[in-house]
Amino acid sequence: MTVLVTGGAGFIGGNFVHFMRKKYPEERLICVDKLTYAGNLSTLAPVMDDPNFRFVKADICDREAIYKLFEAEHPDIVVNFAAESHVDRSIENPEIFLKTNILGTQVMMDACRKYGVTRYHQVSTDEVYGDLPLDRPDLFFTEETPIHTSSPYSSSKAGADLLVLAYHRTYGLPVSISRCSNNYGPYHFPEKLIPLMIANALNDKPLPVYGEGLNVRDWLYVEDHCKAIDLVMRNGRVGEVYNIGGHNEMRNIDIVKMICKALDKPESLITYVADRKGHDMRYAIDPTKIHTELGWLPETKFEDGIQKTIQWYLDNKEWWEEIISGEYQNYYEKMYGNRS
Ligand code: NAD
Ligand code: TYD
Repeated sequence: MTVLVTGGAGFIGGNFVHFMRKKYPEERLICVDKLTYAGNLSTLAPVMDDPNFRFVKADICDREAIYKLFEAEHPDIVVNFAAESHVDRSIENPEIFLKTNILGTQVMMDACRKYGVTRYHQVSTDEVYGDLPLDRPDLFFTEETPIHTSSPYSSSKAGADLLVLAYHRTYGLPVSISRCSNNYGPYHFPEKLIPLMIANALNDKPLPVYGEGLNVRDWLYVEDHCKAIDLVMRNGRVGEVYNIGGHNEMRNIDIVKMICKALDKPESLITYVADRKGHDMRYAIDPTKIHTELGWLPETKFEDGIQKTIQWYLDNKEWWEEIISGEYQNYYEKMYGNRS
């Protein structure tokens, strides 16, 4: 069995690579990644010498490179994590989101059609459903919730999802899609809420909360997401969408306060800044389908997961300090410099 993952030098893809090496050491695992600003080879350092693992630096939009790789490796299962993933960057510059997230998905599926696979799995997001109001806690995203996107990022992911379902219907490609809520855990790029707040708090820098901090996200520990993807790509029904999330809704401000407390830092570091344009209010997943069909449930409680995550950032300072000392400085200055 050969599994090919794209975007494995990023946050979730990297965690998935580590999960797969541990669970299926006998399987061959190929990782394709362009190594954009979000890709980090040091994330994969622990598995680089594994004889059943191969890393290939390539762009998923590069048809020639992808076909060449399929010809050499003939993967059985393809899992597409590769994407531009940050909403704030998509608001600044949508184009690369459309290229990688939609056209890259097309190239990967064309390769799957040409060379044949048993499964193409698309890693998607609950953001394709848009948002829910704060005053209707009874509402959740199900797989039947209409696509209704807010940002260029979520629109590009929704576009890709539609294309994946079209490739199933039109060409009979054996696809599946999972739509997950917000992940947290090790190797999370420090531009996202939780790692950004941990890194800033450790450096005694202001903690920039958008708007009033009342937006709600449904947080899932990344390892639980990896387990769910593994189940869906092997046992999930072809042509189906599976929502992944764990009834763990938290307001941004409460998470930031929790991080301050865990690191013994004063809440006076919290700074309210201008809100994100088109900011989604609340995401909340109904995971009934994946639970009843595949027996999946999240295993990590938020209190434990956030402790493990904070400890990982304390133990792996060199991983994120290197990131925030480079090009990231320019990004940070641009996004947060005059944001009041
Ligand atoms: P990330 O930004 O941390 O990593 C993305 C990876 O993809 C990087 O290693 C990057 O180098 C690579 N990449 C980008 N463009 C590429 C290209 N053209 N060719 C090859 N590689 C390329 O993202 P993440 O948070 O790990 O998200 C992974 C996937 O999961 C994405 O598809 C995202 O939409 C989805 N997702 C993320 C979350 C979340 O909370 N982070 C939640 C639900 C779904
Ligand atoms: P983020 O981690 O970017 O994930 P997403 O937008 O995909 O949900 O943001 C999570 C929430 O945190 C979102 O409501 C925006 C908010 N946020 C801040 O308040 N400050 C920040 O500096 C960042 C990066 C996010």
